Amino acid sequence: ALSGTGTAVTGTGSAYDQRTASGEDANTLTTRQGHPVTNNQNLRTLGNRGPATLENYQFLEKISHFDRERIPERVVHARGAGAHGVFEAYGKVGDEPIAKYTRAKLFQQAGKQTPVFVRFSTVGHGGHSPETLRDPRGFAVKFYTEDGNWDLVGNNLKVFFIRDAIKFPDLIHSQKPDPVTNRQSGERIFDFICNTPEAMHMVTFLFSPWGIPANYRQMQGSGVNTYKWVNDKGEAVLVKYHWEPLQGIKNLTAPEAEAIQAKNFNHATQDLFENIAKGNFPEWELCVQIMSDDEHPELDFDPLDDTKIWPEDQFPFLPVGKMTLNRNPENYFAEVEQVAFGTGVLVDGLDFSDDKMLQGRTFSYSDTQRYRVGANYLQLPINAPKKHVATNQRDGQMTYHVDSAPGQNLSVNYEPSSLSGLKEAPRTFPDHTPRYEGRLIRESIDRTNNFKQAGERWRLHEDWEKDDLINNLVGALTDAAQVIQDKMVDLCTQCDAEYGRRLAEGLKQAKAGKTAEGGNQYNDAKNSEAAQQAEKM
Ligand code: HEM
Repeated sequence: ALSGTGTAVTGTGSAYDQRTASGEDANTLTTRQGHPVTNNQNLRTLGNRGPATLENYQFLEKISHFDRERIPERVVHARGAGAHGVFEAYGKVGDEPIAKYTRAKLFQQAGKQTPVFVRFSTVGHGGHSPETLRDPRGFAVKFYTEDGNWDLVGNNLKVFFIRDAIKFPDLIHSQKPDPVTNRQSGERIFDFICNTPEAMHMVTFLFSPWGIPANYRQMQGSGVNTYKWVNDKGEAVLVKYHWEPLQGIKNLTAPEAEAIQAKNFNHATQDLFENIAKGNFPEWELCVQIMSDDEHPELDFDPLDDTKIWPEDQFPFLPVGKMTLNRNPENYFAEVEQVAFGTGVLVDGLDFSDDKMLQGRTFSYSDTQRYRVGANYLQLPINAPKKHVATNQRDGQMTYHVDSAPGQNLSVNYEPSSLSGLKEAPRTFPDHTPRYEGRLIRESIDRTNNFKQAGERWRLHEDWEKDDLINNLVGALTDAAQVIQDKMVDLCTQCDAEYGRRLAEGLKQAKAGKTAEGGNQYNDAKNSEAAQQAEKM
C-alpha cells in the first residue's frame, strides 16, 4: 500500500504546499480558507489504493460541509420558488390621498419604488413534492422599505380553514402524511374538516379548480388576515390586502393537473424562472379593502374572522400600487430557502388587528425561523433590511457581524448609556393606542356564520368548477369512514341543498363501483399492487 504515486508518508507533501501553486486566477478553485485546490479528483492516500489519512484537510472540509448542506425544511410551505422585483406605489388609495389612512412611507408618493423579494409555495408536502398538488399556494412578499422590512405573508385564496391559531397544528397534522403510513389520507383530512365547520368556505374553494392554480404567475394573492393602517394622527382603519395578477387567473381541474404531473413536477418553478429569464416579467396590482376600526354589528360576520370574505360591493378593492418580478435568484438555497417571512414584520403606519389567527401566526414565524435557519437569521443578506441597522444584540450561532452605527462605542451593547451607545429613535407621530376592556376567556367568536359564504361560493362556481369540486370531494372521501362521509354531506347541505345532494349522490355512485375521476391523490392505496393483490385474495 505504500507504493504508487502517493508520497505523503515522507512528510514533505503537507496540504499547505498547495498554497504555493502558481498561476492562480479568479477562476481558480479554492477551499473556504482560500487555499488553491490543485487536485480535486483524488483523496490523499498511502499509495493510490488507500488507506486515506486523517490530515486530508481539503477533503474533510469538502465532505463535512456537504454533510451539513440541508437545514430543516419549513414545517409548512416547504416547496417554493422565489424572485426579486420592485413595488411601485400609486401614491393614493383608490381616488383618495393615501395619507388619510396610513403614514407608511412606501405608499406615499406616486412612482416611489421599493425592492421586494417574493416566495411562492405549496403547503403540505416536502421540499421536492409535485407542484400540481391540491393545496393553498403561499404568496409571501418582503418589502425592503426605507423604514425597515415589511412582510406580507399571504396565500392565493382569500380565506382560511380555521379562525383560531390554537387549531393550526391539528389542521396541519390532518393534512400532512399519516404518521404511521407516511401517506396523505382523505379520511384524516376530512375527519378534521367535518368536525371544523368553519373550514367549509375554504374547502369549497380548495377542492374546486381554485385548489390547483395553473402556475404561480396566474394566481391571486391575499393577506387573508385583517391588519390595520394608521395615519399620522394615530387613527386606525381595518385593512385587507389582495394581489391581482395582470397575467389573469388560471386554475386546473384534477385531470389537467395529473397530465402535467405525469411529465413534470416542477412546472410552476420552471414557469416562473423561465418567464423572468426571458424578460416576460409577471406583475400584480396590490389592492386593499378598508373598514372602520370597530366590530361592525351590522354585518352577519365578524370582520376579523379569516374564514370570511369582505363583500366587494360594500368594501371595494382599491388599488395602491403594482409589483413587478424582474430578477431570478442566483442561489436557490441562499435566497429562496433561507428567506424568512413573518406577520410581525410591519413598518410604521401598519399595525396588527385583534384577529386571533394573526396574533398566533406572529409568534410562530420568527420562532420557527430561529430553529430552522438560526438565531442570527436576520443577518443573512436576503433577510437583512436594506437600510441602517444598529442593535445591541451580540453573539449566537453564525454571528456574521455587529449591527453597529458608525462611531458607535462597540463596548456599549446596552441602553441607556452616556458612552456613545445607541439611542432610541425620536417619536415622529403619535402611536395608535386602542383601549381594551373585557374578561380573559377561551371562547369562540359570536358571529360564526359558517355556511352562508360557502353556499354563495358554491353558487358562484361555474358548472365545470362544481363538477370538479364534487368529483374531488368524492375522490377524497370514498375511503373515509361512513360517519365522516355523513357529516360532510350534512355540512355541504347546510351550505347549499344542491351542494349536499350532489355530494351524497357522488358518494353513492362511488360506492356502487363507479370511481370518481378526480381527487384520488389521497387514496393511492387503491391503485397499488399490494391493494390489488389483497382484493383478489
Ligand atoms: C409559512 C405558521 C397561517 C401563509 C409558515 C411557517 C409557519 C407558519 C411555522 C413556516 C415559516 C418558515 O419556516 O419560515 C402558521 C400558523 C398559522 C398560519 C401558526 C395560523 C395560526 C397562515 C395563513 C397564511 C399563511 C392564514 C395565509 C395568509 C404562510 C406562507 C408561508 C407560511 C405564505 C411560507 C412563507 C415562505 O415562503 O417562506 N406558516 N401559518 N399561514 N405561512 Fe403560515
